[in-house]
Amino acid sequence: MLSGKNIVVGVTGGIAAYKAADVVSRLKKLDANVYVIMTKHATEFIQPLTFQSLSQNYVVTEMFEDPKTWDVEHISLAKRADLFLIVPATANIIGKVANGIADDMLTTTVMATEAPVFFALAMNTKMYQNKITQSNFDRLMQFGYHMIWPDSGRLACGDVGAGKLAAPESIVEIVEDYLNRPKRLSGKKVVVTAGPTREAVDPVRFISNRSSGKMGYAIAEAAVKEGATVVLISGPTRLNPPIGVDFTGVTTTEEMYEAVFKNADADIIIKAAAPSDYRPVEVASEKIKKESGQLALALEKTPDILKALGLNKRSGQFLVGFAAETQNVETYALKKLKEKNLDMIVANNVAQQGAGFDGDTNIVTIYERDGSSESLGQMEKSKIAEALMDRIILRTQSDAKNE
Ligand SMILES: Cc1cc2nc3c(=O)[nH]c(=O)nc-3n(C[C@H](O)[C@H](O)[C@H](O)COP(=O)(O)O)c2cc1C
Repeated sequence: MLSGKNIVVGVTGGIAAYKAADVVSRLKKLDANVYVIMTKHATEFIQPLTFQSLSQNYVVTEMFEDPKTWDVEHISLAKRADLFLIVPATANIIGKVANGIADDMLTTTVMATEAPVFFALAMNTKMYQNKITQSNFDRLMQFGYHMIWPDSGRLACGDVGAGKLAAPESIVEIVEDYLNRPKRLSGKKVVVTAGPTREAVDPVRFISNRSSGKMGYAIAEAAVKEGATVVLISGPTRLNPPIGVDFTGVTTTEEMYEAVFKNADADIIIKAAAPSDYRPVEVASEKIKKESGQLALALEKTPDILKALGLNKRSGQFLVGFAAETQNVETYALKKLKEKNLDMIVANNVAQQGAGFDGDTNIVTIYERDGSSESLGQMEKSKIAEALMDRIILRTQSDAKNE
């Protein structure tokens, strides 16, 4: 239920605007207070009266009409919102907010709010795939805005592809989950690293590894669900960042190092990434041509992020590492736990069936400083992430009590 929650719904000018009526109706059934702001273009698709009847509140469409109350409307709605939901969100509003444009009531209110803002995207596939739109998504996510990604299917324009508004029930479920999520990590900052890094050899080649980022992304999602402020620092992956994370994309280990240390004030740092340990001493400025015989690449070590974190760990900070091994897993993991001053290490044998990089499942053992350990059988990475988060929360709470 959403009793007592104030949700401001922004409706923009897309063909899916009629589905926003279903979303508003569902939010009302969950007992939320719903306030609708429509763009001028949205009113071409659906009448404000529909939303007025469903939300039982006056619908704002104009910036400069006579105020209906003595409040400055865009500020009062911006302040009142527990959550802002733009549904459907056009490519246009994404572009405007990503660039700080506030030229109507909706964009102005979005700019003025401190509430979490969710964009339920809906647009033609080509508009969705357009590099400008994609970079606008990245920019918005970097500033902590949330995307509700579109589904794929047959679009109203006849094209088939990504861009179809997510189902109204899924949108409402995301909103409900977000507002009702357990708050065991509320007020805590969690940094998660994920994915591989890439070290350039020449303009077309790089050294990397098979990390998919799935484990780290699942952990970031689990931390969001626990109410933490989550910074996800990720190397290149094929994944969409989970809703609610503050996302930083990096390419090299050096960049990951810098991004992590910018966030070294975190309460909990979970290093699930697989940064490249070595990089070429020199990056060729032109493509290296194929010659007969062998090619020797001189490699140097990249900065050891986990070790540096361990050395600089502040009191009360909780540091979790991962050990992906193909043999002697326990020995290597315990060595790493000690040498890098970690509080916990999650070890897995990546050579094992059902474990490791690319799959949706993993098999891990969690080792802690005090010698305790827990082996989890083969599980979905999302479930492992939740189990890991449970263990971290219990441990940090008992550490805090013993201080
Ligand atoms: C029939 C029709 C359907 C449209 N559907 C979409 C859509 O689904 N997504 C989108 O981004 N733009 C769509 N547009 C284009 C937007 O309406 C246009 O970019 C407009 O400027 C958006 O304004 P707003 O974001 O202020 O509401 C559509 C336009 C028309 C005429």
